[in-house]
Amino acid sequence: MRPTVRIVEVGARDGLQNEKAIVATADKIALIDRLSATGLQSIEATSFVSPKWVPQLADAAEVFAGITRKSGVHYPVLVPNERGYERALAVGVEEIAVFSAASEAFNQKNINASIAESLARFEPVMARAKADGIRVRGYVSTVLGCPYQGEVPVAEVVRVARELHQMGCYEVSLGDTIGIGTPGKARAMLRAVASEVPMDALAVHFHDTYGQALANILACLEEGVAVVDSAVSGVGGCPYAKGASGNVASEDVVYMLDGLGVESGVDLALLAETGRWLATLLGRKTGSKVGRALA
Ligand code: HMG
Ligand code: MG
Repeated sequence: MRPTVRIVEVGARDGLQNEKAIVATADKIALIDRLSATGLQSIEATSFVSPKWVPQLADAAEVFAGITRKSGVHYPVLVPNERGYERALAVGVEEIAVFSAASEAFNQKNINASIAESLARFEPVMARAKADGIRVRGYVSTVLGCPYQGEVPVAEVVRVARELHQMGCYEVSLGDTIGIGTPGKARAMLRAVASEVPMDALAVHFHDTYGQALANILACLEEGVAVVDSAVSGVGGCPYAKGASGNVASEDVVYMLDGLGVESGVDLALLAETGRWLATLLGRKTGSKVGRALA
């Protein structure tokens, strides 16, 4: 296992994109600023996707312009196409994330494109990002199963991850979008991808639908992965992934890392407090067991 792990906090994006009620812009900004005070180094801030598809994040520009950017902290945003890239660039974004999937059926529902079409759509975005000095992260969704087509061949996960890496993504995050995976499958999938993309360029992104996320993360840590995506308070889910529930809670990941003696640089007490604050804002109990235990 690596001595240090970087957490990519996705709650403000993966979490808030999936809330029924639209969270006020000021609250989104407050959430991101609270998160940056906890020691997190990567905080996904929002998405510059079509507001027709994800109305919850229609205020992406206002959110990004409103946050207090802390030095040393990266604030990636999701970008699906050139239109999104231009909107992001206009507000001074320095890191973007492009996203595709290992399942054709999911990609159609999520971004209305085949895998090949989505990769072709990213080509001009990647070229412009390179010219503009913008870092690009890549996502592969449905790496352990798809809500529409069921099984997803590991070879497809490897192929899409490799293509994103070859296109210039400095890191590729492997997403169990519907939280269906179990540790043996997660480990085998990561091992297969790592045979073609360096482990240092990989991240894991688990949703916790079946309560397997922490176990899956541990298996992947044992394989040598050093970047883990998670969401404060366990918020999260993709509006176009039927049956997907929240991401693994960041508090639970940090508690596990602390116990393993793995350094994340995150202050657990502050993070848990932020998780409870967010839960109150959303009108429910925190989705983090650690957050509840520490209350
Ligand atoms: P489309 O309808 O095929 O394309 O959407 P379009 O070009 O016809 O666009 C439709 C309308 O949106 C047009 O407006 C465009 O101008 C506008 P109209 O002409 O009808 O007035 N539009 C935009 N507006 C603002 N910003 C843009 C933009 N692009 C188009 N960037 C599209 C294709 C890709 C745009 C759409 O399908 C989309 O935005 N999808 C995003 C879905 C999404 O955000 N899903 C959740 C994120 S992925 C996820 O959660 C998984 C992850 O967490 C990992 C995991 O868990 O596995 C990352
Ligand atoms: Mg997700």
